[in-house]
Amino acid sequence: MKVGIDKIAFYTPKHYLDLSDLARTQGVSEQKYHVGIGQEAFSVPAHDEDVVTMAAAAADMILDEEDIACIDTVFFATESGIDQSKAAGIYVHSLLGLKANCRVVELKQACYSATFALQMAVAYVRQFSDKKVLVIASDISRYALGTPAEATQGAAAVALLISSAPRVATIEGTSGLYTQDVMDFWRPNDHDTPLVDGKFSTQVYLKATQAAWLNYQEKNQVGFADFAYFCYHLPFSKMGVKAHQMLARLNGVAEDVRHLPAMAYGRSIGNAYTASLYLALCSLLDAKDDLAGALVGMLSYGSGCVAEFFALRLQEDYLKVRQKACHENLLRTRRRLSFDEYLHFWHRVDGFSSGNIEIEDSASGKYRLQAIRNYQRIYCKS
Ligand code: CAA
Repeated sequence: MKVGIDKIAFYTPKHYLDLSDLARTQGVSEQKYHVGIGQEAFSVPAHDEDVVTMAAAAADMILDEEDIACIDTVFFATESGIDQSKAAGIYVHSLLGLKANCRVVELKQACYSATFALQMAVAYVRQFSDKKVLVIASDISRYALGTPAEATQGAAAVALLISSAPRVATIEGTSGLYTQDVMDFWRPNDHDTPLVDGKFSTQVYLKATQAAWLNYQEKNQVGFADFAYFCYHLPFSKMGVKAHQMLARLNGVAEDVRHLPAMAYGRSIGNAYTASLYLALCSLLDAKDDLAGALVGMLSYGSGCVAEFFALRLQEDYLKVRQKACHENLLRTRRRLSFDEYLHFWHRVDGFSSGNIEIEDSASGKYRLQAIRNYQRIYCKS
């Protein structure tokens, strides 16, 4: 039985900061961002947006009534959790009108957990082929102002529907895995922004990529040349370029461009943590019309750290279900923020920590965080 990704779509906030504006304010060369880290801009969530509103908007793009009737499991992957106890996916379940006979859980392991959610969803649907699982990766990457990491912020959610009639992709073979206890990037419970050893984190990413790839090689009879394209977790696009060049060298290949089509969306949306790898997949699907049957290498990385290399086989019907027009429209209609507007949204809305606040409508998306009353988040449809 074939099981895999039947539909996939992303949502990103409608405001962005152009990295030229950040460079000008910081007094650094634009080229450092455009060439050095390979980024153009990053999405900025408004005060009435969070991982829930982005997730609901992404899922809304792919679900029809039949899907809603078959979904009995929602996996919500994030490292931007809004509550230490309640799963963010329960709000999404409510906003989407999913049926009550459903389980919803939240998963965390930095940028990696959506990949585990995908693997669990596939295993579950293999056992119960009449069911569908909604996997959501939703994150806001937010670093302290004035730090080198500020340029690598971003926000997006990707929704994936897993079924036994997959029109986008199936997973082939056995994953290559790697875990190491390492402090490259982490966010203690009382911190709003992560602590990051930036340069070290790039070295750990490369080491983990190589180790996961070598483990994949031990388990599968598939070589580097067998892949048509590669998608990487993209904290910034240059990181994926470096990872791919490293794997190419390891496999005796001097020049290679099979990683490039998967980088477009990430360059202008920025880091979306758990969603980044799946944004890369959306970039690839939307960039190419001839992917049917192609084998795609997927490198998932989450600081701390866990890495997984696995392979997707793209399906004949992906052109029928891809959300290219919606994705392009989302990006085309984003509004460029001034630097002051960016700072306004970066800072929490006044009174946030009081647990009682009405939040201005920034006309951002279909779903919004309307208020926090008695520390309870109130969401609504716009
Ligand atoms: N023109 C062209 N290139 C320039 C330039 C210019 N004028 N000025 C600088 N550059 C280049 C540098 O040579 C460098 O390139 P190389 O890496 O190829 O040497 C690049 O721009 C970056 O410049 P710096 O080395 O000065 O680094 P930085 O101070 O800008 O910091 C960073 C870069 C450490 C990655 C920082 O952005 C950061 O801490 N980011 C957050 C952590 C992160 O994303 N880590 C990635 C791995 S961890 C992960 O993947 C999990 C996750 O999502 C967080």
